[in-house]
Amino acid sequence: MIHLDRGSSVPVRQQLYARIRELIVQGNLGADTQLPSSRTLAVELGVSRNTIVAAFDQLIAEGYLDARVGAGSFVAVQLPDALGKSVRAAPHIVRATGRREVRLAGETLTRRNTSPPSLPVRPRAFALGVPSVDEFPYAAWGKIVAKRWGRSAASLSAYGAPGGLPALREVIADYLVTSRGVRCNPSQVFVVGGSQQGLNLAVRVLLDRDDPAWMENPGYHGAREAFDAVGARIVPVPVDADGLDVQAGEAAERHPRLIYATPSHQFPLGMTMTMRRRAQLLACASNADAWVFEDDYDSEFRYSGQPLPALQGLDDEDRVIYAGTFSKGLLPSLRLGYLVVPPDLVEPFQRAHTVSGLDGSLLDQTVVADFIREGHFARHIRRMRRLYATRRELLVESLRRHLGGMIDVGLPASGTHLVVYLRDGVSDVDACRVAAANGVVMTPLSSAYIGTGQSGLLLGYASVRGPLIERGVRQVASALRSLVPASPVRPLDHRVAG
Ligand SMILES: Cc1ncc(COP(=O)(O)O)c(C=O)c1O
Repeated sequence: MIHLDRGSSVPVRQQLYARIRELIVQGNLGADTQLPSSRTLAVELGVSRNTIVAAFDQLIAEGYLDARVGAGSFVAVQLPDALGKSVRAAPHIVRATGRREVRLAGETLTRRNTSPPSLPVRPRAFALGVPSVDEFPYAAWGKIVAKRWGRSAASLSAYGAPGGLPALREVIADYLVTSRGVRCNPSQVFVVGGSQQGLNLAVRVLLDRDDPAWMENPGYHGAREAFDAVGARIVPVPVDADGLDVQAGEAAERHPRLIYATPSHQFPLGMTMTMRRRAQLLACASNADAWVFEDDYDSEFRYSGQPLPALQGLDDEDRVIYAGTFSKGLLPSLRLGYLVVPPDLVEPFQRAHTVSGLDGSLLDQTVVADFIREGHFARHIRRMRRLYATRRELLVESLRRHLGGMIDVGLPASGTHLVVYLRDGVSDVDACRVAAANGVVMTPLSSAYIGTGQSGLLLGYASVRGPLIERGVRQVASALRSLVPASPVRPLDHRVAG
């Protein structure tokens, strides 16, 4: 625990004194701990015994150590007053954990009482944002793993480069240019540990404490928490049928530093941002000199209408940071996603990516690259789109049968969940609690709002097989009936968003 720097201009006696004091202050040497004898320490550290004795004497004189005749030196039970004061006056937050006080510099990062996303081991109706992992082509994947591991084990076992595996960056750039209308070259692509990690990287590079950041309201809690973690000032901006309400945003804060948006498929309501609104948003970002974070989290799954190209492709001023994920199209457990950053940001992101530890194993990255190049990805997406469309229809039918009159359904043109709007006075949090007791997972819509929001249920259907959908809806119906026993019947209105 003691390292002495012989090349330092600080005398060894002083270094030794400072280090032991630090160990005591930080609690590494607890009260009443016996220190090794001066003779033993002198041998271990390779310094003269006089040096040790001098350092001990100073610590004893200042009250950090007690000398007990014939027994040796012990850490004082009562530390000097000045010490207690200096600990308490530290600019960090002191938090009682029940066992001891812990100083947390990252107070904003840790204060939220968020539970980790609940990903049930077996598919559960109606877990949000979970793809059908049962249907994944594991055999094809396994063959690529075996081939790559056999051929290139050594080269896949070293450290990767910032930005990710070059072959995967190329494949992603190709895919985004052809399928999403993104304008980029591979050097702008960063392979990250899921889009959440991409968000974290982006906010750490782009936002300082108290910088205003526009957040869709309702919106994605993961983005809100990433902003909060860096101490940004979150400005909630409402959404309407056209997507993020830019005018309302400008009325609330004219100079955001960053704007978070989900233009392809607003989370959680599901509308697609219109072209007019996109142009308005880019003009606003230009006036404010702001960055835009475009979260394109599940654009692969569109069931009707033509997909609009990514906002990034319309951006002539290089303000948009585009984010996508393999969590929906492949597997959430891979923890792989990607950012496309404007050319000016490539270097800063490279440095930040190195500091944050790089992401994703090289084996996984090379397998994903092959999986896409060999056509498995496109095939899998096509199959899943058909499957999810069927499950979505089943869910709507089942809701109509069991809940017609009690709810309205928001049916987005894309994605993996739908929105069930509850009538006024019915608490979505209560409904979720009652359903959870019967084994059905739902997410309350109101939890996606900053401030009070509409009552509703977010039902994920992608991972839920037909019979489970029917059974799950019966549980939802019984939960709602228990909360509104005598509700008048109204016809089901399919509000189609997007
Ligand atoms: C709006 C939104 N963005 C991003 C993600 C994906 O996060 P990740 O790529 O970290 O799995 C999700 C997950 O459900 C989401 O709902």
